[in-house]
Amino acid sequence: MKITLHIWRQRNAKDAGKMVRYEVPNVNHEMSFLEMLDVLNEALIEKGEEPVAFDHDCREGICGMCGCMVNGVAHGPVPGTTLCQLHMRHFKDGDELYLEPWRAKAFPVIKDLVVDRGAFDRIIAAGGYISVATGSAPDGNAILVPKENAELAMDAAACIACGACVAMCPNASAALFTGAKISHLGLLPQGQPEREQRAVAMVAQANTEMFGSCTNIGECEAVCPKEIKIEVIARMNKDFIKASLSGRGALANNA
Ligand code: SF4
Ligand code: FES
Repeated sequence: MKITLHIWRQRNAKDAGKMVRYEVPNVNHEMSFLEMLDVLNEALIEKGEEPVAFDHDCREGICGMCGCMVNGVAHGPVPGTTLCQLHMRHFKDGDELYLEPWRAKAFPVIKDLVVDRGAFDRIIAAGGYISVATGSAPDGNAILVPKENAELAMDAAACIACGACVAMCPNASAALFTGAKISHLGLLPQGQPEREQRAVAMVAQANTEMFGSCTNIGECEAVCPKEIKIEVIARMNKDFIKASLSGRGALANNA
């Protein structure tokens, strides 16, 4: 089938950038979306043109590297699916697709569809370490975790830090990502000693990175490839408010 692509081309962070139209005439419906881009890039290289830069690594939906806006939707039209796991059978002959990088000031464009998601790394780093000695695997198994909490913590830990939630949010808020990371440890016994301090430090770092505030629109949950629920945002807010009222987050607040 033939697909027409309009792709955001930007040589570097300083370049103004523009949409460029390409036709890909030989798309197989078994191809993944990234394989379709590989075919385009091979054709561009053969013509002596610069290939389209896009992030990817595992191509199995687990690393969080891939992603771009497809017709205005982060990771494209199939719910619960990363761009690398999106297949061309979901499109039809003659479709016209507009590909743009993640939309957020906190994710500056490096080149074409590649953005700098270092802000996410700095939010995680702000959370710091847990102070409890977790020991080896048998010691860990000796700590009983309520089944419901174990499952909720695992659900939160599924976040692959792809950034789709930020890209889709009209406020460019990182609340779903930050809430997932805070929930992941905050629901487990090992995460309790620094639970509130961690929430305040990570929220403060998200603000420093100039992500927007959450206004409960829910676009993040709708496009999250790991189907993280917005209840993680409520848990983050609860921990943050508890810490602020008790004064335990003061250190992190002043950092
Ligand atoms: S919460 Fe979902 S959309 Fe946001 S970074 Fe994590 S996996 Fe990606
Ligand atoms: S390339 Fe790893 S999740 Fe898509």
